[in-house]
Amino acid sequence: MATGHNVHLLPQTDQLRAIHTIIRDKDCTREDFVFYSRRVIRLLLEAGMDLLPFTKKDITTPVGATYQGFEFATKICAVPVIRAGEAMEGELRDVHPGIRIGKILIQRDKRTKLPHLYYKHLPADIADRHVLLLEPMLATAGSALAAVDALLDSGVRENHIIMINFLSSPEGLRRVAQERPHVKIVTSAIEDRLNEHAFMIPGIGDFGDRFFGTTDSGANT
Ligand code: PRP
Repeated sequence: MATGHNVHLLPQTDQLRAIHTIIRDKDCTREDFVFYSRRVIRLLLEAGMDLLPFTKKDITTPVGATYQGFEFATKICAVPVIRAGEAMEGELRDVHPGIRIGKILIQRDKRTKLPHLYYKHLPADIADRHVLLLEPMLATAGSALAAVDALLDSGVRENHIIMINFLSSPEGLRRVAQERPHVKIVTSAIEDRLNEHAFMIPGIGDFGDRFFGTTDSGANT
């Protein structure tokens, strides 16, 4: 198995597989792609927040009893990797309306597939926060690791980074585990392999293009 102890794969229920069946189909409409991928994004975000630290908190219920509960024990923020990571922002704001959001712009060279950091703008106190790093695609992991490096350069602790990832390749997961072993990854699917063009197989195509409607293919209009 390619996964390390810091890889959290969503339970592969029939329902989740059914959603993947809709959105991986090359003939899926863009409307369905956005609708169904957002359902998975919600699950990923909830699973990612499960990994944050909590402390005990007792409250009194309306019948006067004590409920022994928990509350968030940390400050958090989210950092989408532009552009595809921004597809996760809508769901994030639904589950956490006040969350601070930084931005990192990384684009791969279309030919070499190597990532380039163009821009970052992060909360001033990000070094004190846990970070949900929103990066839907983990293929070679070059983009994800460049984003992690940008966070580490800003003082974020490696074990405070939770990457919210939609689709992962075994190669990408192995590389993150080797180079940044304390980064946690939540993903909804682990693919079979990368092909010679660094595309995941069976894959989903270009997530950003399909979500934002910028694909050249007529199938997703
Ligand atoms: C895609 C995707 C990831 C990256 C994954 O970005 O959104 O950022 O590729 O590939 P890697 O693991 O091999 O680096 P792309 O550069 O196509 O830009 P986009 O976000 O605008 O779609």
